[in-house]
Amino acid sequence: MPITRSETKPQAKHARHDLEIAIPVTRDHFDQDEEWVVVHHENEWRKVRLHDYAEVYSIPGLYDRWVYDIFRCRSPQKVGGLLDQALKRESIDPASIRVLDLGAGNGYVAKVLSEYGIRSFTGVDIHQEAAAAAERDRPGLYQNYIVGDMTNLHERGRKVLDLVRPNCLTCVAALGFGDIPPEVFAAAFNSIEPDGWAAFTIKTDFLDPKDRSGFSVLIRRMIDQGVLEVAERESYVHRVATDGEELVYTALIGRKRGQTEPSWVV
Ligand SMILES: C[S@@+](CC[C@H](N)C(=O)[O-])C[C@H]1O[C@@H](n2cnc3c(N)ncnc32)[C@H](O)[C@@H]1O
Repeated sequence: MPITRSETKPQAKHARHDLEIAIPVTRDHFDQDEEWVVVHHENEWRKVRLHDYAEVYSIPGLYDRWVYDIFRCRSPQKVGGLLDQALKRESIDPASIRVLDLGAGNGYVAKVLSEYGIRSFTGVDIHQEAAAAAERDRPGLYQNYIVGDMTNLHERGRKVLDLVRPNCLTCVAALGFGDIPPEVFAAAFNSIEPDGWAAFTIKTDFLDPKDRSGFSVLIRRMIDQGVLEVAERESYVHRVATDGEELVYTALIGRKRGQTEPSWVV
């Protein structure tokens, strides 16, 4: 059968079906930042930790196969559905939304949001390999992709934000666990236009008053001080872990009604 041009495109959905992956069979609990697999790539089996993002993204299809197919992650769909619901309630056209996708990775979140009619995407990630994987797996989806640190953004990144003026922060499956810390989340939130939107997911335990990650204090202050006006809040299963445990996250969608204070980041 002839191979069409689109079938030869190196997109994630094609690459992920060719990958051979072995997942540890275990009842032992791994912390989320300790999970690993072995993957067959370039004629050898390699052990890769999920949180070694540079290595994960450099293997075409690995992130999507592991997180979305095997771990059945549904966070982008949850955030997309709730954001769509909130926009519809306020009769806001999704085409007017300009997303700043923090911890964008290889672009799965932007892909889901584009299915709801959102067209403007600026990615931000700390890893260059994430930007390269987004262009490899979902070419052209992001008009801009900033590789950098939102608390200390380089000149080029600041210019992009000044030009685009994002009015919606998305941050999916990227808060805590050595990924995005509270100060980076706060800086990204503060960069959104007044009365814009925030749509994010966070492990529900991080919202518990006993939590020590800093997110519980920051997000409770944002809500209590009226800086984040919650439109939708839902607890759901984010994905399964290596041992089969269901990981419970909270999705929050809200309007930005002010700036965070530095003292809220502890
Ligand atoms: C679990 S992945 C989630 C990727 C994507 N949001 C998704 O849901 O498919 C977490 C992402 O956060 C990024 N990340 C970690 N620390 C960061 C930081 N300080 N600033 C920006 N991105 C960061 C990682 O490189 C990685 O791409």
